[in-house]
Amino acid sequence: MGPLSAPPCTQRITWKGLLLTASLLNFWNPPTTAQVMIEAQPPKLSEGKDVLLVVHNLPQNLPGYMWYKGKMKDLYHYIVSYVADSQIIIPGPAYSGRETVYSNASLLIKNVTREDAGSYNLHIIKRGDETTGVTGHFTVTLYPKLPKPYITINNVNPWENKDDLTFTCEPNSKNHTYVWLLNGQRLPVSPRVKRPIENRILILPSVTRNETGPYQCEIWDQYGGIRSYPVTLNVLYGPDLPRIYPSFTYYRSGENLSLSCSSDSNPPAEYSWTINGKFQQSGQNLSIPQITTKHSGLYACYVRNSATGKEISRSMTVKVSAPSGTGHLPGLNPF
Ligand SMILES: *[C@@H]1O[C@H](CO)[C@@H](O)[C@H](O)[C@H]1NC(C)=O
Ligand SMILES: *[C@@H]1O[C@H](CO)[C@@H](O)[C@H](O)[C@H]1NC(C)=O
Ligand SMILES: *[C@@H]1O[C@H](CO)[C@@H](O)[C@H](O)[C@H]1NC(C)=O
Ligand SMILES: *[C@@H]1O[C@H](CO)[C@@H](O)[C@H](O)[C@H]1NC(C)=O
Ligand SMILES: *[C@@H]1O[C@H](CO)[C@@H](O)[C@H](O)[C@H]1NC(C)=O
Ligand SMILES: *[C@@H]1O[C@H](CO)[C@@H](O)[C@H](O)[C@H]1NC(C)=O
Repeated sequence: MGPLSAPPCTQRITWKGLLLTASLLNFWNPPTTAQVMIEAQPPKLSEGKDVLLVVHNLPQNLPGYMWYKGKMKDLYHYIVSYVADSQIIIPGPAYSGRETVYSNASLLIKNVTREDAGSYNLHIIKRGDETTGVTGHFTVTLYPKLPKPYITINNVNPWENKDDLTFTCEPNSKNHTYVWLLNGQRLPVSPRVKRPIENRILILPSVTRNETGPYQCEIWDQYGGIRSYPVTLNVLYGPDLPRIYPSFTYYRSGENLSLSCSSDSNPPAEYSWTINGKFQQSGQNLSIPQITTKHSGLYACYVRNSATGKEISRSMTVKVSAPSGTGHLPGLNPF
């Protein structure tokens, strides 16, 4: 190394590496060779990712290197230097704490920000020779961050087998591709589902209850994709034909009659019971303690969907046998 010289800037800087830095700067001259190359891996990356600035064709046995942010080769843009003889790393004012310099001069920058994009300069100090120094630079290009997509629907409370649904993945961009997911799986190609306009729109003709979701869309560019929040449909359906439990029809006098009616419906069905066509009670379950023969008749459960207004019923015949000895019922009479 040559004799120490005064710092190239007039400001008072007390940090430890100043003298060394100054001496290195003193020895730098315009490049005479251009074979050293800097390659960014990857050349384009998104914020938060890591980039490695790989230095190719680095001459052997160099005393040290210095990295600068941008094209200015002053102390304020000085990131870090590496002194090979002593294997010392000296950070400078432009060092953010996210940079790592390796002995082969490559520079790793972790968790890059938009501000990191741009040119980087590498100064290579050659040994014992006044015509020293090679510079290279390159540009980190951050591609625009993908916006988080979201789904709009033409109808959030569709009726089953009636309403056609149109989902749209926003925002609109010709530069992106769109992917649809149902239950976290890519929506399979199905003849009934249409996806016009570059897949950005999803059409479900006459939606069914099995297609409630959750639906998500993704937008992709060449580097990656980002997924929307899930959207779940509230498909209105039913009431389906009700079931009555238990289904047996013969009872003995004195038994407790307890019937339960159920029907699939969204929103849940409203229930009511009739006996021989006369309103008996509302509610899902019908209980008559200690029935007698006069409770024989046609029992019907009515179900209604308050949203769709649809109504449907199921009926069953209940026969109550007389108490033992006072009547008979074929097949049930023990005598
Ligand atoms: C330099 O070292 C780093 C870290 O070990 C490595 O990833 C990189 O490939 C090396 N560069 C060259 C040109 O060998
Ligand atoms: C990356 O940097 C951002 C701010 O730029 C910070 O919020 C985040 O925690 C950092 N991530 C890691 C893994 O250091
Ligand atoms: C779409 O990509 C083209 C080049 O491929 C670019 O010029 C344009 O700005 C991009 N548009 C948007 C909205 O990103
Ligand atoms: C819903 O899916 C089940 C089983 O996959 C099927 O049995 C049923 O018919 C479907 N219902 C409708 C309304 O599509
Ligand atoms: C009928 O219900 C009553 C209470 O409501 C109960 O005491 C009686 O044991 C029940 N009878 C039968 C046969 O289950
Ligand atoms: C009706 O009875 C069934 C079966 O006993 C029971 O699961 C259900 O909770 C009852 N419903 C009401 C509204 O009490």
